[in-house]
Amino acid sequence: MAEKVAVVTGSNKGIGYGIVRELCKRGVGYVYLTARDVKRGKEAVESLKKEGFKPLFHQLEVTDKNSVKSFAAYLKEKHGGLDILINNAGLITANFTETTYEDSVQVINVNYYSILTLQQFMFPILRDNARVINVSSDCGHISNLKNVYWIDRLTKEDIKLEDVNAFVNWFLDSVKKGTVNENDFAETPLLAYRISKVALCALTRVQQNQVGRGISINSLHPGFVKTNMTKTAGFLTVEEASQAPVYLALDIDQSVKGKYFWFDKTEKEWTDTNLKLHCVYTVFENSLKGVNQN
Ligand SMILES: NC(=O)c1ccc[n+]([C@@H]2O[C@H](COP(=O)([O-])OP(=O)(O)OC[C@H]3O[C@@H](n4cnc5c(N)ncnc54)[C@H](OP(=O)(O)O)[C@@H]3O)[C@@H](O)[C@H]2O)c1
Repeated sequence: MAEKVAVVTGSNKGIGYGIVRELCKRGVGYVYLTARDVKRGKEAVESLKKEGFKPLFHQLEVTDKNSVKSFAAYLKEKHGGLDILINNAGLITANFTETTYEDSVQVINVNYYSILTLQQFMFPILRDNARVINVSSDCGHISNLKNVYWIDRLTKEDIKLEDVNAFVNWFLDSVKKGTVNENDFAETPLLAYRISKVALCALTRVQQNQVGRGISINSLHPGFVKTNMTKTAGFLTVEEASQAPVYLALDIDQSVKGKYFWFDKTEKEWTDTNLKLHCVYTVFENSLKGVNQN
């Protein structure tokens, strides 16, 4: 454990910060708290140091190829490889109920396309039997979709990257043309966010099919967590929400691969539309009202 190297993206605050704290607590040797903004990142590191933890810091803007590339080169040079990669950085739609093209592009860039950049530069330095955790959402379960064509294409066993990219492009095109059909989705609030997280879960399966070398890649829904993203609405604290990602990073058997997990550490079948695990926006909305009244 002491020699393991772990990286958590977007960890200057929120769930990522909680995951760094928990990994340090569990004795992982080199835990990288990363942030796109150096000042915010260093402040977060200082705050964990005051608690007696010793995370390391590196700048990382997940949508910037050069930033990802130079961090990967740094890790290779300094440690020879990487054992744990937690893809946590994420962005929610600027407006929760309206879908605009610019916003959809931005959300999908951060939550989906950045993962391909991380794959390009970080996967080559992953050590054998490394672990990758893609932080998705209940918005990422297949039951967020109703369009049968896309459900079938995304849940097939031999799914390929081109299937996931085609799904994302189909959505962006329909937003651009104003042809989004609400019957294609369980719900339309947070729509671009849902698409980005469904794509991330689908990509998890593609990555697992291809990666080899004993590496495991799983995705998870961290729960409805009180962070900036939810305007502090939620049912879980950051500390509670960091337990499941750390369980996947350190405790679960290495043979568990390409699966989708819930915040209570149970596995949920991602391909099963009957599970109805989609994000119910009224729950979010009601919780937001509670926060606003305080
Ligand atoms: N909170 C929930 O209820 C909930 C539920 C389901 C899933 N999730 C997922 O959990 C993850 C963490 O969310 P959170 O609630 O902790 O959100 P948060 O408090 O808003 O934190 C998001 C983190 O991601 C970083 N980030 C955003 N864009 C980035 C970029 N381009 N490059 C690098 N870092 C970037 C942010 O940095 P800055 O401070 O610089 O913005 C911040 O550190 C996300 O993937 C989210 O979708 C959250």
